[in-house]
Amino acid sequence: MTRTPILIDTDPGIDDALALLMAFDSAAHDVVGLTIAAGNVGLPHTVRNALKSCEVAGRGDVPVFPGAAAPLLHPAEDAGHVHGKDGFGDIGYPDPSLTAVAEHAANAIVRLAREHSGRLLLVALGPLTNLALALTLDPELPRHVDRLLVMGGAVTVHGNMTPAAEFNIGFDPEAAHIVFRAFARVELCDWEATVAHGLDHRELETWLAVGSERARFYEAISRQTRLWSEDRRGDRWYCADALAMAAALAPDGALEWVERPLAVELAGQHARGATIVDWNRQRGVADNARILRRYDQAAFEQRVRKALAAG
Ligand code: BDR
Ligand code: CA
Repeated sequence: MTRTPILIDTDPGIDDALALLMAFDSAAHDVVGLTIAAGNVGLPHTVRNALKSCEVAGRGDVPVFPGAAAPLLHPAEDAGHVHGKDGFGDIGYPDPSLTAVAEHAANAIVRLAREHSGRLLLVALGPLTNLALALTLDPELPRHVDRLLVMGGAVTVHGNMTPAAEFNIGFDPEAAHIVFRAFARVELCDWEATVAHGLDHRELETWLAVGSERARFYEAISRQTRLWSEDRRGDRWYCADALAMAAALAPDGALEWVERPLAVELAGQHARGATIVDWNRQRGVADNARILRRYDQAAFEQRVRKALAAG
């Protein structure tokens, strides 16, 4: 079986880390690199967390490319209050033994898309700054990418960063605008799909107790975030990037996709960063988003469990 090359743009981040473990665990995929942006926390932390994730998974062969340290135009607040000041729960983990590559993430995206032209699965789990920069360097990029799946947006404007905006889009709306305009079709796993596919906290605790090194590590880095989430959001944990990764790795688990035109709000006092879906196709523009609405919950959970226990 030839494995599908997958390039992951990410800002680890607790849910990013679980998504990375899932990708590393997939026998059908070959992780060709991680491109890193600032988002959940600052770039030095997201790079360090990416390297640590590779180390814990025994994947020192995966190159990690540092990229954008800030949004394209306007500064934005990070999500350290959710993920920990260091993005990995402030547990004080020892420095990773791995080091990052010197090539900038945007250059790496351009190069790897061409190297794997027509086959590349590109998965974006953070703000879209690196992808926007890559598109600026190479407007032909979409021709080389087989699938682009983005975790981002809130398709009926029930945001998590603001009442209207989801974090990945709200952190860098201009970058998201550039990406959604450039790609003819973006697969989207939004915050609202995340909320519809939560993981039960008590069950998750039993999965985290399996005793593998990766489960132990993940239990430790995610503890603070899970407690915060249970306190704020109730019984189920909304692990956005993990659901997005399930849909990327196994699209056959999707039970419903809806295609519509989608635009990003760049201005506005209340709605900057909102993803505006033209549900009634009133503007007469082409559909550009394939929006995940329902995914096989059991298949999603099975993939999470397997990723935690492997190794
Ligand atoms: C997204 O925002 C980040 O905080 C998470 O890592 C995820 O990618 C969810 O809105
Ligand atoms: Ca993320």
